[in-house]
Amino acid sequence: MLSKNLQAMSKRQALFTQSLRTFSAEPSNAPPKRVAVTGAAGNIAYSILYRIDSEEFLGKNQRVILHLVDLPFAEKALTGVMAELHDCAFPLLDSVVCATNPTDGFRDVDYAFMVGAKPRGPGMERADLLKDNGQIFVGVGKAMADVAKRDCKTIVVGNPANTNCLILQNHAKGIPSENFTAMTRLDHNRALTQLALKTNSKVTDIKKMAIWGNHSPTMYPDVRNTTIAGKPALSLIDDDWKIKEFTPRVQKRGAEIIELRGASSAASAGSASIDHMRDWVSGSNEWQSVGILTDGSQYNVPAGLIFSFPVTSSNGKFQLV
Ligand code: NAD
Ligand code: LMR
Repeated sequence: MLSKNLQAMSKRQALFTQSLRTFSAEPSNAPPKRVAVTGAAGNIAYSILYRIDSEEFLGKNQRVILHLVDLPFAEKALTGVMAELHDCAFPLLDSVVCATNPTDGFRDVDYAFMVGAKPRGPGMERADLLKDNGQIFVGVGKAMADVAKRDCKTIVVGNPANTNCLILQNHAKGIPSENFTAMTRLDHNRALTQLALKTNSKVTDIKKMAIWGNHSPTMYPDVRNTTIAGKPALSLIDDDWKIKEFTPRVQKRGAEIIELRGASSAASAGSASIDHMRDWVSGSNEWQSVGILTDGSQYNVPAGLIFSFPVTSSNGKFQLV
């Protein structure tokens, strides 16, 4: 009797273990994707890297090879970041490449998070960073032209993000310009939460919000088409709040965070970059905001700018709303 019970128990156990295996993520045998993160020894990268490896970017089955790219002076810190990644024993992390020159950094990469750039301090505008940071994207663009995959998808986070993105795509010859985007997803996420807090709703209830323009105080968070739990946002918020509080708050939230934290936003920026890249790769019918190169045909915006529009995404491409 006892042995019959034991047999039944071990059968149940085997079935349970089998079902666990079915549910748990098994890395696929597909070739790993190479993901470069520049500024890898810095603050934003520190929050991005762990999310790339924990399935949040490319899903539960895709193995990755991480390229940590930073300047030569940061070499020791890069090996520290690599050591911590090793200590996580991420099932999907195939290997880590530490690179202090862009040619090694971008060789054969499929995706690039361009974070490496100086952040601004109190009292500065993002445009004040152009003199120092713009130059970075010349060299990075040339290296991408030489060694990155031709279909590499790139997000520019380093400020001023729109202009840096324009410089980068100009120098990354041979890679389609549609593969270069600037991040305004952080502004988008900020606007969603301000609306949710004001109307006591959930961010997931908010649809069709858009950020137009530049990642700077001139950006425009647009709620004209927005619905909140199915109702027009404009019927739930008043004009006074929209004009005097909501719009300037979203436009100047970066400076508010610098004032509060004593350092520029990091975890929220990293999180927004993952949202942007995940939706680009996996697709989403929800409106997102993304800075893309204009050709003069979109909403009367002049050609040759990196400008944020509302988009949806499918098949690895953004579609303008
Ligand atoms: P950080 O100073 O902590 O890190 C920047 C890192 O970049 C440093 O490790 C530095 O050595 C490295 N770096 C500099 N030049 C490089 C180069 N040529 N190649 C590779 N690495 C290089 O700064 P952070 O807080 O991580 O911010 C990075 C950038 O992101 C800043 O420009 C900041 O303003 C910007 N940012 C943008 C957004 C956005 O919404 N677009 C949000 C937050 C921050
Ligand atoms: C942000 O919006 O938080 C970033 O662009 C950092 C900054 O300088 O404001």
